[in-house]
Amino acid sequence: MDGNGRWAESLGQSRQYGHQVGSSRVYEIFKVCTELGCKTATFFAMSSENMNRNETEISFISQLLKSSINEHFSDLVNNKIKFKVIGDLSSLPNKILEIIQHAENETKKFSRYNLNIAYNYGGHWDIINAANLAVLNHKQINYETLCKYLSTSVNYPDLIVRTGGYKRLSNFMLWQAAYSEFQFLDILWPDISKNDIECIFDNYENTQRKFGLVK
Ligand code: IPE
Ligand code: MG
Repeated sequence: MDGNGRWAESLGQSRQYGHQVGSSRVYEIFKVCTELGCKTATFFAMSSENMNRNETEISFISQLLKSSINEHFSDLVNNKIKFKVIGDLSSLPNKILEIIQHAENETKKFSRYNLNIAYNYGGHWDIINAANLAVLNHKQINYETLCKYLSTSVNYPDLIVRTGGYKRLSNFMLWQAAYSEFQFLDILWPDISKNDIECIFDNYENTQRKFGLVK
């Protein structure tokens, strides 16, 4: 979800305002994705490297995470959406951690849809974390044992979409992206619309996935 800052600056507003509007689009866009047949979506809210930004911006974004969970909690339950925050959450204040854990616990029984938020998430972190957990339980790590402990478990993204104009992965799901399709949009995240999502899905549907085979 790149482009919040530039979007706000183009309107003469603060970066914070951009994050606020950007955050308010997440659930709405998730619902559009589910209406189009997508069962699982992960929104990259904050990378490991974004955590090197100034304290005010980091704390503002963590508060947005908290308020958006509070705002949508009953809708998550009513629509049977399993909610999860992935990433290294050790730096979050207890109050926010409790809200995340509560939402995760109350929705873990659902399997209809999955809404994940990646916060202080990095592909490097994910792989190292999985490797550490795997060696605790297995003498030798192989593909299956490592995958089991990744934050996404064995579910890999079919499609990765980045807004904001840059064509890079910025440490997002490095392991899981092995055979993902990619779409890069110039549009800034707060401007994303239902129509953009429909175009993204149409493009995806028109791509032949080969997974290394000849088809
Ligand atoms: C994306 O917006 C949200 C986060 C990384 C937290 P940016 O904050 O990266 O916005 P730009 O790239 O400066 O426009
Ligand atoms: Mg950016």
